[in-house]
Amino acid sequence: MLVRLTYASRALNGVSSRLIREILEASQRNNPRKGLTGILCCNADIFLQVLEGPRDRVNELYNFLADDQRHKELTILDYEEISVRRYANWSMGWAGAKQHNRELYLKYSCSEHFDPFNMSAAQIRGMLLELETSISPITPPVID
Ligand SMILES: Cc1cc2nc3c(=O)[nH]c(=O)nc-3n(C[C@H](O)[C@H](O)[C@H](O)COP(=O)(O)O)c2cc1C
Repeated sequence: MLVRLTYASRALNGVSSRLIREILEASQRNNPRKGLTGILCCNADIFLQVLEGPRDRVNELYNFLADDQRHKELTILDYEEISVRRYANWSMGWAGAKQHNRELYLKYSCSEHFDPFNMSAAQIRGMLLELETSISPITPPVID
């Protein structure tokens, strides 16, 4: 049984490059072996994460993430049973404030800022489908 969970949270002390590196490393270490795929979008303050995979694994990771003190106000925005994954792996991208992105935020919400907390599940789905093609991918650090 596959599910897709979407939640938003706020970084406790802002999103630093160090925090991004730590999340990337942990996700790449843990998610593939648990059959978890998805995407994590963030700006300087807010995370928007989609997790898909076996229901027990997705629920387990979400409960685990809720205890991570580096973010707060975790809010489930969407939870659905799925028959097909949308994401082939796990990736991360920067939901920036470029003109194109601002137009996208305005298209799907009341403001031109990235604010998933004030969007419906349907709006988030629509925004993500378009955002995925325009967000700047955050690539893994080179480990030597
Ligand atoms: C916004 C956010 C998203 C995260 N996403 C994941 C994730 O998808 N997978 C993961 O293993 N850890 C993720 N983490 C990190 C976990 O909370 C935790 O620090 C990490 O899984 C510990 O990994 P370890 O047990 O291998 O040291 C995330 C943390 C934050 C703040």
